[in-house]
Amino acid sequence: MSISIYRGTVVYAAERDKLAAFPGANILVEDGFVKNVLKNLPEELAELPVQDYGNALIIPAFSDLHIHASQYAQRGIGMDKLLFDWLMDYTFPQETKFADLSYAKMVYDTLVADLIRHGTFHASIFTTIHYEASDYLFEKLAERGLYAYTGVVNMDCNSPEYLCETTENSLRNTERFLREHQGARTVQPILTPRFAPTCSETLIQGLGKLAKKYACGVQTHLVESIAEAAWTKDLFPGYRCEAAIYEQAGLLEYGPSVFAHVIFPTGEDIEILKKTKSISVHCPDATANIIAGIMPADALGKRELPIALGTDIGAGPGTAVYRQVSRAVQLSKLKAFFQPEGNGQLSFARAFYMATKEGGSIFDRVGSLEPGYRFNALVLDGLEDDFSPLTPEEKLERFCYGGDDRNIVARYLDGKLINP
Ligand code: GUN
Ligand code: FE
Repeated sequence: MSISIYRGTVVYAAERDKLAAFPGANILVEDGFVKNVLKNLPEELAELPVQDYGNALIIPAFSDLHIHASQYAQRGIGMDKLLFDWLMDYTFPQETKFADLSYAKMVYDTLVADLIRHGTFHASIFTTIHYEASDYLFEKLAERGLYAYTGVVNMDCNSPEYLCETTENSLRNTERFLREHQGARTVQPILTPRFAPTCSETLIQGLGKLAKKYACGVQTHLVESIAEAAWTKDLFPGYRCEAAIYEQAGLLEYGPSVFAHVIFPTGEDIEILKKTKSISVHCPDATANIIAGIMPADALGKRELPIALGTDIGAGPGTAVYRQVSRAVQLSKLKAFFQPEGNGQLSFARAFYMATKEGGSIFDRVGSLEPGYRFNALVLDGLEDDFSPLTPEEKLERFCYGGDDRNIVARYLDGKLINP
């Protein structure tokens, strides 16, 4: 048994709209898990060394539940396009490069280091249709001990020829990926149909069979734009809503089910997401950039849907989930202003909760610093001016709005100090 003690201002969100802050606290970590947060150390621990971070904040590491690893190479480019043009002009041509493993290695190595640099230790990640590159990313994430779901992307129709698989190959590739990445590790395989328009009904039904055989979850994009939702309706006329396509194929039974965007859900979509305990992922930067839609995050929250945050790189420009926290608040205000019916503003605490505990809920005990959680944590400093002291909550808010990786002075994963 190993016990470590860290001193600082511990801040986390155990509940939706509330930050818990403990200034001058000692956080006790036993074998990588938080044991307790104490103001004063009991006598039997008084002899142990303490890593003292002074006035710095100690917060949970972030969860990014929607990111395209391959699109790291195109982040911040083509941002004046809308979804379909952006896919055709930038994204699809870029993704073909991942047939070349040496290119993929460079991109994925850089991405993984960048995730760690910005404090993202838990993520749900799309790759591309390419097996070897996806396998490399899986092993890289596992080697660094990050908590992740990732899988090869499926697309067998309505895609450019150079990125379109046959249904059989797509299913074969996917089954191989599931088979060869089983076992209890921090990284788990997940089914990744790109989105309904690029997947045939036969493919989705085949994936449903694999979900059952390997008891695995699914990640995809759901009702992300008006054009996408309308196209999906045309392509899948027999379904009562978009979520039903996945539900009826048996894809939402083994969990987690991770749906990016969910900007234009019908009442039936919401019922299915609720019933299947699916998690929706709000990607504020990405939707402002290429979709021009805003998730009704407050309204969905009122319906008790869990909502996480995502960067959606490359539609989002960078790996900083903390910046998505501030963007989520900003966009909720715009939504509430321009569409006041049913849409309220998100509190800062809520957005931080989405980026930490809610997003962490698809993994094992990550995303908070309550007792029993893994000590996956960041130490933040340099957030206050000498002439104007801030409360712990204010420092955290300043970090999310204007801070960057230079404010992250230490990173702990499973209780161990790590570097990018
Ligand atoms: N819909 C289908 N593919 C994509 C993608 O790569 N990014 C986003 N944001 N939406 C998509
Ligand atoms: Fe996406």
